[in-house]
Amino acid sequence: MATAISSAQTKNPKRIGVIGAGHVGLVTAACFAELGHRVACMDIDVERVHELGKGNLPFYEPGLQELVLKHASDRLVFTSDYREAVGQADFVFLAVATPTTALGSADLRHVRSAARAVARVAGGKRPILVSKSTAPVGITETLASVLLAESNGDGPLRVVANPEFLREGTAIRDFLEPDRVVLGADDLAARDAVGALYEPLDCPILYTDIKTAEMVKYASNAFLATKISFINEIAEVCEKVGADVRGVARGMGLDPRIGSDFLSAGIGFGGSCLPKDVRALSYLAAVYGSHPQLLNTVLQINEEQRRRLVTRLRNLLGGLRGTRIAVLGLAFKPGTDDIRDAPALDLIRLLEYEEADVRACDPFAIGATQAHFPDISCESDPYLAATDCDAVILATEWPEFRDIDFDRLRAVMRRPVLADGRNAWDPEEARRHGFVYLGMGLPEDASQRQQRVLV
Ligand code: UDX
Repeated sequence: MATAISSAQTKNPKRIGVIGAGHVGLVTAACFAELGHRVACMDIDVERVHELGKGNLPFYEPGLQELVLKHASDRLVFTSDYREAVGQADFVFLAVATPTTALGSADLRHVRSAARAVARVAGGKRPILVSKSTAPVGITETLASVLLAESNGDGPLRVVANPEFLREGTAIRDFLEPDRVVLGADDLAARDAVGALYEPLDCPILYTDIKTAEMVKYASNAFLATKISFINEIAEVCEKVGADVRGVARGMGLDPRIGSDFLSAGIGFGGSCLPKDVRALSYLAAVYGSHPQLLNTVLQINEEQRRRLVTRLRNLLGGLRGTRIAVLGLAFKPGTDDIRDAPALDLIRLLEYEEADVRACDPFAIGATQAHFPDISCESDPYLAATDCDAVILATEWPEFRDIDFDRLRAVMRRPVLADGRNAWDPEEARRHGFVYLGMGLPEDASQRQQRVLV
Protein backbone atom coordinates (compact mmCIF):
# COMPACT_ATOMS: atom_id res chain seq x y z
CA MET A 1 0.00 0.00 0.00
CA ALA A 2 2.12 2.97 -1.22
CA THR A 3 1.79 6.37 0.40
CA ALA A 4 2.19 9.28 -1.96
CA ILE A 5 4.70 11.54 -0.25
CA SER A 6 4.26 15.17 -1.12
CA SER A 7 6.26 17.47 1.09
CA ALA A 8 7.70 20.93 0.71
CA GLN A 9 11.26 21.35 1.92
CA THR A 10 12.06 23.55 4.88
CA LYS A 11 14.02 26.74 4.16
CA ASN A 12 15.59 26.56 7.61
CA PRO A 13 16.92 23.06 8.38
CA LYS A 14 17.26 22.30 12.07
CA ARG A 15 18.74 19.50 14.16
CA ILE A 16 15.96 17.46 15.72
CA GLY A 17 16.18 14.70 18.30
CA VAL A 18 13.27 12.26 18.60
CA ILE A 19 13.04 10.15 21.75
CA GLY A 20 11.08 6.92 21.20
CA ALA A 21 11.14 4.84 17.99
CA GLY A 22 7.54 3.63 18.14
CA HIS A 23 4.69 4.50 15.77
CA VAL A 24 4.69 8.21 16.66
CA GLY A 25 8.44 8.63 17.05
CA LEU A 26 9.46 6.85 13.87
CA VAL A 27 6.88 8.67 11.74
CA THR A 28 7.89 12.01 13.30
CA ALA A 29 11.60 11.34 12.70
CA ALA A 30 11.17 10.14 9.11
CA CYS A 31 8.83 12.99 8.18
CA PHE A 32 11.02 15.73 9.66
CA ALA A 33 13.91 14.23 7.67
CA GLU A 34 11.67 14.31 4.60
CA LEU A 35 11.07 18.02 5.26
CA GLY A 36 14.85 18.58 5.18
CA HIS A 37 15.89 18.53 8.85
CA ARG A 38 18.75 16.52 10.35
CA VAL A 39 17.15 13.98 12.69
CA ALA A 40 18.52 11.61 15.32
CA CYS A 41 15.93 9.09 16.49
CA MET A 42 16.74 7.48 19.83
CA ASP A 43 15.35 4.42 21.60
CA ILE A 44 16.47 2.55 24.72
CA ASP A 45 15.82 -0.74 22.91
CA VAL A 46 19.30 -1.39 21.46
CA GLU A 47 18.09 -4.27 19.28
CA ARG A 48 15.36 -2.09 17.78
CA VAL A 49 17.95 0.65 17.06
CA HIS A 50 20.26 -1.88 15.44
CA GLU A 51 17.46 -3.19 13.20
CA LEU A 52 16.36 0.35 12.29
CA GLY A 53 19.91 1.15 11.26
CA LYS A 54 19.54 -1.68 8.73
CA GLY A 55 16.19 -0.34 7.57
CA ASN A 56 14.15 -3.00 9.38
CA LEU A 57 11.09 -1.54 11.09
CA PRO A 58 9.44 -3.09 14.20
CA PHE A 59 5.96 -2.72 12.71
CA TYR A 60 4.22 -2.27 9.37
CA GLU A 61 3.20 1.26 8.35
CA PRO A 62 2.63 1.94 4.62
CA GLY A 63 5.47 4.02 3.12
CA LEU A 64 7.47 4.34 6.35
CA GLN A 65 10.22 1.88 5.47
CA GLU A 66 10.73 3.63 2.12
CA LEU A 67 11.00 6.98 3.88
CA VAL A 68 13.46 5.65 6.47
CA LEU A 69 15.65 4.04 3.79
CA LYS A 70 15.48 7.23 1.68
CA HIS A 71 17.03 9.33 4.48
CA ALA A 72 19.01 6.77 6.51
CA SER A 73 22.24 7.64 4.72
CA ASP A 74 22.10 11.41 5.21
CA ARG A 75 19.49 13.10 7.41
CA LEU A 76 18.23 10.33 9.64
CA VAL A 77 20.30 8.40 12.17
CA PHE A 78 19.22 5.93 14.84
CA THR A 79 20.87 5.71 18.22
CA SER A 80 20.44 4.38 21.74
CA ASP A 81 22.53 7.24 23.13
CA TYR A 82 20.72 10.27 24.52
CA ARG A 83 23.77 12.45 23.92
CA GLU A 84 23.76 11.68 20.20
CA ALA A 85 20.07 12.51 19.93
CA VAL A 86 20.06 15.59 22.16
CA GLY A 87 23.58 17.04 22.30
CA GLN A 88 23.38 19.26 19.19
CA ALA A 89 19.59 19.38 18.85
CA ASP A 90 17.53 22.55 18.42
CA PHE A 91 14.40 20.57 19.29
CA VAL A 92 13.82 17.29 21.12
CA PHE A 93 10.49 15.54 20.48
CA LEU A 94 9.32 13.16 23.21
CA ALA A 95 7.40 10.28 21.65
CA VAL A 96 7.70 7.59 24.29
CA ALA A 97 5.00 5.14 25.29
CA THR A 98 2.35 6.02 27.83
CA PRO A 99 0.71 2.62 28.43
CA THR A 100 -2.49 2.26 30.40
CA THR A 101 -2.25 1.10 34.00
CA ALA A 102 -4.71 -1.41 35.47
CA LEU A 103 -6.71 1.51 36.86
CA GLY A 104 -7.07 3.03 33.38
CA SER A 105 -4.66 5.89 34.00
CA ALA A 106 -1.66 6.57 31.76
CA ASP A 107 1.69 5.27 33.02
CA LEU A 108 4.03 8.28 32.83
CA ARG A 109 7.25 6.64 34.05
CA HIS A 110 8.82 6.47 30.57
CA VAL A 111 7.99 10.08 29.76
CA ARG A 112 9.42 11.33 33.04
CA SER A 113 12.63 9.34 32.75
CA ALA A 114 13.08 10.43 29.12
CA ALA A 115 12.65 14.10 30.08
CA ARG A 116 15.12 13.66 32.93
CA ALA A 117 17.67 12.06 30.63
CA VAL A 118 17.22 14.80 28.01
CA ALA A 119 17.73 17.53 30.62
CA ARG A 120 20.92 15.87 31.83
CA VAL A 121 22.58 15.76 28.42
CA ALA A 122 21.12 18.88 26.82
CA GLY A 123 24.08 20.85 25.55
CA GLY A 124 24.67 24.58 25.38
CA LYS A 125 22.11 24.79 22.57
CA ARG A 126 19.36 24.21 25.17
CA PRO A 127 16.89 22.46 22.87
CA ILE A 128 13.16 23.08 23.12
CA LEU A 129 11.44 19.97 24.48
CA VAL A 130 8.30 19.10 22.46
CA SER A 131 5.86 16.68 24.06
CA LYS A 132 4.28 14.45 21.40
CA SER A 133 3.45 11.41 23.47
CA THR A 134 -0.26 11.01 24.10
CA ALA A 135 -0.48 11.65 27.82
CA PRO A 136 -3.07 13.08 30.18
CA VAL A 137 -3.79 16.77 30.46
CA GLY A 138 -1.12 18.21 32.72
CA ILE A 139 1.75 16.07 31.41
CA THR A 140 3.61 19.03 29.91
CA GLU A 141 3.58 20.75 33.30
CA THR A 142 4.91 17.53 34.81
CA LEU A 143 7.71 17.55 32.27
CA ALA A 144 8.46 21.20 33.06
CA SER A 145 8.85 20.31 36.74
CA VAL A 146 11.17 17.41 35.84
CA LEU A 147 13.25 19.78 33.72
CA LEU A 148 13.31 22.36 36.51
CA ALA A 149 14.56 19.76 38.96
CA GLU A 150 17.33 18.84 36.53
CA SER A 151 18.20 22.37 35.49
CA ASN A 152 21.49 24.01 36.27
CA GLY A 153 22.12 27.75 36.49
CA ASP A 154 20.81 28.33 32.94
CA GLY A 155 17.25 27.52 34.03
CA PRO A 156 15.04 24.69 32.72
CA LEU A 157 14.56 23.77 29.09
CA ARG A 158 11.43 25.23 27.54
CA VAL A 159 8.49 22.89 26.79
CA VAL A 160 5.83 22.88 24.06
CA ALA A 161 2.83 20.52 23.84
CA ASN A 162 2.34 19.18 20.30
CA PRO A 163 -0.22 16.34 20.32
CA GLU A 164 -0.18 13.94 17.40
CA PHE A 165 -3.24 13.05 15.28
CA LEU A 166 -1.71 10.18 13.32
CA ARG A 167 -3.85 7.24 12.21
CA GLU A 168 -2.11 3.91 11.74
CA GLY A 169 -2.10 2.99 8.08
CA THR A 170 -2.07 6.65 6.94
CA ALA A 171 0.41 8.07 9.47
CA ILE A 172 2.83 9.59 6.95
CA ARG A 173 0.08 11.40 5.06
CA ASP A 174 -1.45 12.48 8.37
CA PHE A 175 1.93 14.01 9.35
CA LEU A 176 2.83 15.63 6.00
CA GLU A 177 -0.72 16.69 5.08
CA PRO A 178 -2.36 17.29 8.48
CA ASP A 179 -5.82 18.76 9.02
CA ARG A 180 -4.26 20.90 11.72
CA VAL A 181 -1.24 21.28 13.97
CA VAL A 182 -1.91 22.13 17.62
CA LEU A 183 0.80 23.79 19.75
CA GLY A 184 0.41 24.59 23.42
CA ALA A 185 3.01 26.66 25.26
CA ASP A 186 3.52 29.39 27.85
CA ASP A 187 6.74 30.57 26.20
CA LEU A 188 5.65 32.25 22.96
CA ALA A 189 9.12 32.27 21.40
CA ALA A 190 9.41 28.50 21.93
CA ARG A 191 5.89 28.04 20.56
CA ASP A 192 6.68 30.04 17.43
CA ALA A 193 9.99 28.20 16.92
CA VAL A 194 8.14 24.86 16.89
CA GLY A 195 5.43 26.38 14.69
CA ALA A 196 8.09 27.29 12.14
CA LEU A 197 8.94 23.58 11.73
CA TYR A 198 5.40 23.01 10.46
CA GLU A 199 5.25 26.05 8.16
CA PRO A 200 6.02 24.03 4.98
CA LEU A 201 2.94 21.87 5.62
CA ASP A 202 0.65 24.80 4.77
CA CYS A 203 -2.07 23.76 7.24
CA PRO A 204 -3.90 25.56 10.09
CA ILE A 205 -1.67 25.88 13.16
CA LEU A 206 -3.69 26.37 16.34
CA TYR A 207 -1.78 28.08 19.15
CA THR A 208 -3.22 27.54 22.62
CA ASP A 209 -2.14 27.28 26.23
CA ILE A 210 -0.61 23.95 27.22
CA LYS A 211 -3.59 22.22 28.83
CA THR A 212 -5.93 23.21 26.01
CA ALA A 213 -3.57 21.66 23.45
CA GLU A 214 -3.38 18.46 25.48
CA MET A 215 -7.16 18.31 25.80
CA VAL A 216 -7.70 18.75 22.04
CA LYS A 217 -6.09 15.36 21.48
CA TYR A 218 -8.14 13.50 24.10
CA ALA A 219 -11.39 15.22 23.21
CA SER A 220 -10.86 14.51 19.49
CA ASN A 221 -10.25 10.80 20.05
CA ALA A 222 -13.09 10.54 22.55
CA PHE A 223 -15.45 12.17 20.04
CA LEU A 224 -14.39 9.75 17.28
CA ALA A 225 -14.97 6.83 19.64
CA THR A 226 -18.34 8.31 20.60
CA LYS A 227 -19.42 8.45 16.96
CA ILE A 228 -18.55 4.77 16.57
CA SER A 229 -20.39 3.69 19.72
CA PHE A 230 -23.33 5.91 18.76
CA ILE A 231 -23.75 4.24 15.37
CA ASN A 232 -23.30 0.83 17.01
CA GLU A 233 -26.14 1.56 19.42
CA ILE A 234 -28.28 2.72 16.49
CA ALA A 235 -27.27 -0.49 14.67
CA GLU A 236 -28.75 -2.63 17.45
CA VAL A 237 -32.03 -0.73 17.23
CA CYS A 238 -31.97 -1.12 13.43
CA GLU A 239 -31.72 -4.90 13.81
CA LYS A 240 -34.76 -4.91 16.10
CA VAL A 241 -36.95 -2.70 13.90
CA GLY A 242 -35.73 -4.03 10.54
CA ALA A 243 -33.87 -0.93 9.36
CA ASP A 244 -30.45 -0.87 7.63
CA VAL A 245 -27.85 1.05 9.63
CA ARG A 246 -25.74 1.56 6.50
CA GLY A 247 -28.51 3.63 4.96
CA VAL A 248 -29.06 5.42 8.26
CA ALA A 249 -25.33 6.34 8.40
CA ARG A 250 -25.42 7.57 4.79
CA GLY A 251 -28.46 9.70 5.52
CA MET A 252 -26.90 11.12 8.69
CA GLY A 253 -23.56 11.80 6.99
CA LEU A 254 -25.15 14.04 4.37
CA ASP A 255 -25.63 16.57 7.15
CA PRO A 256 -22.28 18.43 7.21
CA ARG A 257 -22.71 18.98 10.94
CA ILE A 258 -22.53 15.21 11.39
CA GLY A 259 -20.20 14.08 8.58
CA SER A 260 -20.04 10.54 7.22
CA ASP A 261 -16.72 9.44 8.73
CA PHE A 262 -16.65 7.13 11.77
CA LEU A 263 -20.24 6.00 11.29
CA SER A 264 -19.45 2.45 10.14
CA ALA A 265 -21.24 0.02 12.46
CA GLY A 266 -19.48 -3.19 13.41
CA ILE A 267 -17.64 -4.91 16.24
CA GLY A 268 -16.32 -1.54 17.37
CA PHE A 269 -13.05 0.28 17.80
CA GLY A 270 -9.68 -1.12 18.84
CA GLY A 271 -6.10 -0.01 18.48
CA SER A 272 -3.51 1.61 20.70
CA CYS A 273 -5.26 4.97 20.80
CA LEU A 274 -9.04 5.22 20.91
CA PRO A 275 -9.64 2.67 23.71
CA LYS A 276 -6.64 3.89 25.72
CA ASP A 277 -7.40 7.57 25.29
CA VAL A 278 -11.08 7.24 26.20
CA ARG A 279 -10.16 5.23 29.30
CA ALA A 280 -7.47 7.77 30.26
CA LEU A 281 -9.85 10.72 29.77
CA SER A 282 -12.55 8.99 31.81
CA TYR A 283 -10.02 8.29 34.55
CA LEU A 284 -8.77 11.91 34.50
CA ALA A 285 -12.35 13.20 34.70
CA ALA A 286 -13.12 10.95 37.65
CA VAL A 287 -9.91 11.97 39.45
CA TYR A 288 -11.03 15.60 39.16
CA GLY A 289 -14.46 14.77 40.48
CA SER A 290 -16.37 14.76 37.20
CA HIS A 291 -18.76 11.98 36.22
CA PRO A 292 -17.78 10.80 32.70
CA GLN A 293 -20.98 8.85 32.10
CA LEU A 294 -20.88 9.35 28.33
CA LEU A 295 -17.23 8.24 28.05
CA ASN A 296 -17.89 5.18 30.20
CA THR A 297 -20.93 4.27 28.13
CA VAL A 298 -18.91 4.66 24.91
CA LEU A 299 -16.49 2.05 26.28
CA GLN A 300 -19.27 -0.26 27.49
CA ILE A 301 -21.08 -0.19 24.14
CA ASN A 302 -17.78 -0.92 22.41
CA GLU A 303 -17.05 -3.98 24.53
CA GLU A 304 -20.66 -5.17 24.16
CA GLN A 305 -20.37 -5.24 20.36
CA ARG A 306 -18.04 -8.25 20.52
CA ARG A 307 -20.29 -10.10 22.94
CA ARG A 308 -23.41 -9.36 20.86
CA LEU A 309 -21.93 -10.93 17.76
CA VAL A 310 -20.80 -14.06 19.64
CA THR A 311 -24.25 -14.39 21.25
CA ARG A 312 -26.01 -14.17 17.87
CA LEU A 313 -23.60 -16.75 16.44
CA ARG A 314 -24.21 -19.09 19.41
CA ASN A 315 -27.96 -18.84 18.91
CA LEU A 316 -27.63 -19.50 15.19
CA LEU A 317 -25.33 -22.52 15.59
CA GLY A 318 -27.18 -23.95 18.59
CA GLY A 319 -24.17 -23.50 20.83
CA LEU A 320 -20.43 -22.91 20.31
CA ARG A 321 -18.84 -25.75 22.31
CA GLY A 322 -17.03 -28.08 19.91
CA THR A 323 -17.59 -25.83 16.88
CA ARG A 324 -14.73 -24.59 14.74
CA ILE A 325 -14.79 -20.85 14.01
CA ALA A 326 -12.50 -18.89 11.70
CA VAL A 327 -11.74 -15.28 12.67
CA LEU A 328 -10.68 -13.32 9.58
CA GLY A 329 -8.67 -10.26 10.53
CA LEU A 330 -6.55 -9.84 13.66
CA ALA A 331 -5.09 -6.34 13.19
CA PHE A 332 -7.33 -3.72 14.80
CA LYS A 333 -7.96 -2.31 11.33
CA PRO A 334 -6.72 -2.88 7.77
CA GLY A 335 -3.36 -1.39 6.72
CA THR A 336 -1.50 -2.25 9.95
CA ASP A 337 -0.11 -5.28 11.76
CA ASP A 338 -1.01 -3.76 15.13
CA ILE A 339 -3.22 -6.05 17.24
CA ARG A 340 -3.30 -3.83 20.35
CA ASP A 341 -6.85 -3.82 21.76
CA ALA A 342 -8.01 -5.41 18.50
CA PRO A 343 -11.68 -6.52 18.56
CA ALA A 344 -10.53 -9.88 17.15
CA LEU A 345 -8.67 -10.59 20.40
CA ASP A 346 -11.89 -10.13 22.39
CA LEU A 347 -13.73 -12.38 19.92
CA ILE A 348 -11.06 -15.08 20.29
CA ARG A 349 -11.22 -14.88 24.09
CA LEU A 350 -15.03 -15.11 24.06
CA LEU A 351 -15.07 -18.03 21.60
CA GLU A 352 -12.39 -19.90 23.52
CA TYR A 353 -14.31 -19.34 26.76
CA GLU A 354 -17.19 -21.25 25.14
CA GLU A 355 -14.78 -23.99 24.04
CA ALA A 356 -14.93 -23.28 20.34
CA ASP A 357 -11.88 -24.22 18.27
CA VAL A 358 -10.63 -20.89 16.82
CA ARG A 359 -8.74 -20.58 13.52
CA ALA A 360 -7.27 -17.07 13.16
CA CYS A 361 -6.25 -15.45 9.89
CA ASP A 362 -4.57 -12.17 8.94
CA PRO A 363 -2.31 -11.10 6.04
CA PHE A 364 0.08 -9.08 8.26
CA ALA A 365 -0.57 -9.65 11.97
CA ILE A 366 0.13 -13.38 12.35
CA GLY A 367 3.50 -12.85 14.04
CA ALA A 368 2.11 -10.45 16.61
CA THR A 369 -0.87 -12.72 17.28
CA GLN A 370 1.21 -15.84 17.78
CA ALA A 371 3.36 -13.93 20.25
CA HIS A 372 0.12 -12.97 22.07
CA PHE A 373 -1.76 -16.24 21.59
CA PRO A 374 0.84 -19.01 21.00
CA ASP A 375 -1.85 -21.71 21.14
CA ILE A 376 -4.04 -20.23 18.39
CA SER A 377 -3.59 -21.62 14.90
CA CYS A 378 -2.92 -18.66 12.57
CA GLU A 379 -3.12 -18.76 8.80
CA SER A 380 -2.53 -16.09 6.19
CA ASP A 381 -4.79 -18.01 3.77
CA PRO A 382 -8.49 -17.45 4.59
CA TYR A 383 -9.61 -20.62 2.78
CA LEU A 384 -7.21 -22.76 4.84
CA ALA A 385 -8.39 -21.03 8.02
CA ALA A 386 -12.05 -21.62 7.08
CA THR A 387 -11.58 -25.32 6.28
CA ASP A 388 -14.13 -27.46 8.17
CA CYS A 389 -15.38 -24.39 10.04
CA ASP A 390 -18.94 -23.96 11.24
CA ALA A 391 -18.75 -20.23 10.79
CA VAL A 392 -16.46 -17.46 9.60
CA ILE A 393 -16.31 -14.14 11.47
CA LEU A 394 -14.96 -11.11 9.59
CA ALA A 395 -13.23 -8.97 12.22
CA THR A 396 -10.99 -6.77 10.02
CA GLU A 397 -12.01 -5.64 6.55
CA TRP A 398 -8.71 -6.34 4.73
CA PRO A 399 -9.24 -6.04 0.93
CA GLU A 400 -8.35 -9.73 0.44
CA PHE A 401 -11.19 -10.65 2.80
CA ARG A 402 -13.67 -8.17 1.28
CA ASP A 403 -13.04 -9.78 -2.14
CA ILE A 404 -13.13 -13.38 -0.93
CA ASP A 405 -14.43 -16.02 -3.38
CA PHE A 406 -17.73 -17.11 -1.80
CA ASP A 407 -17.95 -20.33 -3.84
CA ARG A 408 -14.45 -21.37 -2.80
CA LEU A 409 -15.16 -20.43 0.81
CA ARG A 410 -18.48 -22.31 0.87
CA ALA A 411 -16.74 -25.43 -0.52
CA VAL A 412 -14.29 -25.71 2.39
CA MET A 413 -16.64 -24.87 5.28
CA ARG A 414 -18.60 -27.39 7.34
CA ARG A 415 -21.56 -25.02 7.81
CA PRO A 416 -22.31 -21.97 5.63
CA VAL A 417 -22.45 -19.21 8.26
CA LEU A 418 -20.88 -15.76 7.86
CA ALA A 419 -20.79 -13.27 10.75
CA ASP A 420 -19.73 -9.98 9.16
CA GLY A 421 -18.28 -7.87 11.97
CA ARG A 422 -17.57 -4.97 9.60
CA ASN A 423 -20.56 -5.09 7.21
CA ALA A 424 -17.92 -5.53 4.53
CA TRP A 425 -19.73 -8.18 2.47
CA ASP A 426 -22.94 -7.83 0.44
CA PRO A 427 -25.64 -9.75 2.40
CA GLU A 428 -27.65 -10.62 -0.70
CA GLU A 429 -24.58 -11.90 -2.58
CA ALA A 430 -23.59 -14.01 0.42
CA ARG A 431 -27.10 -15.47 0.65
CA ARG A 432 -27.14 -16.13 -3.13
CA HIS A 433 -24.03 -18.25 -2.52
CA GLY A 434 -25.87 -20.33 0.07
CA PHE A 435 -24.64 -18.62 3.22
CA VAL A 436 -26.62 -17.62 6.28
CA TYR A 437 -25.34 -14.07 6.74
CA LEU A 438 -25.19 -12.09 9.99
CA GLY A 439 -24.45 -8.39 9.66
CA MET A 440 -24.26 -5.62 12.28
CA GLY A 441 -27.32 -3.40 12.22
CA LEU A 442 -28.88 -4.98 9.14
CA PRO A 443 -32.39 -6.39 8.80
CA GLU A 444 -32.31 -10.14 9.34
CA ASP A 445 -33.53 -12.19 6.38
CA ALA A 446 -36.08 -14.97 6.55
CA SER A 447 -33.39 -17.69 6.73
CA GLN A 448 -32.21 -16.35 10.06
CA ARG A 449 -35.66 -15.82 11.50
CA GLN A 450 -36.96 -19.29 10.66
CA GLN A 451 -34.14 -21.67 11.33
CA ARG A 452 -30.88 -22.42 13.00
CA VAL A 453 -28.30 -23.93 10.73
CA LEU A 454 -28.06 -27.48 12.00
CA VAL A 455 -26.42 -30.10 9.81
C1 UDX B 1 -7.09 7.06 15.91
C2 UDX B 1 -7.54 8.43 15.46
O1 UDX B 1 -8.29 8.31 14.24
C3 UDX B 1 -6.31 9.31 15.21
O2 UDX B 1 -6.73 10.61 14.84
C4 UDX B 1 -5.49 9.38 16.50
O3 UDX B 1 -4.34 10.18 16.33
C5 UDX B 1 -5.10 7.98 16.93
O4 UDX B 1 -6.26 7.16 17.08
P1 UDX B 1 -6.16 4.84 14.81
O5 UDX B 1 -6.28 4.30 16.19
O6 UDX B 1 -4.91 4.63 14.06
O7 UDX B 1 -6.38 6.47 14.86
O8 UDX B 1 -7.33 4.21 13.94
P2 UDX B 1 -8.74 4.68 13.41
O9 UDX B 1 -8.67 4.76 11.95
O10 UDX B 1 -9.21 5.86 14.17
O11 UDX B 1 -9.67 3.41 13.80
C6 UDX B 1 -9.79 3.10 15.17
C7 UDX B 1 -10.74 1.91 15.30
O12 UDX B 1 -12.10 2.33 15.04
C8 UDX B 1 -10.45 0.74 14.36
O13 UDX B 1 -10.57 -0.47 15.11
C9 UDX B 1 -11.58 0.82 13.34
O14 UDX B 1 -11.94 -0.46 12.84
C10 UDX B 1 -12.72 1.40 14.18
N1 UDX B 1 -13.72 2.13 13.40
C11 UDX B 1 -13.34 3.23 12.70
C12 UDX B 1 -15.04 1.72 13.43
O15 UDX B 1 -15.38 0.72 14.08
N2 UDX B 1 -15.97 2.42 12.75
C13 UDX B 1 -15.64 3.53 12.01
O16 UDX B 1 -16.54 4.11 11.39
C14 UDX B 1 -14.27 3.95 11.98
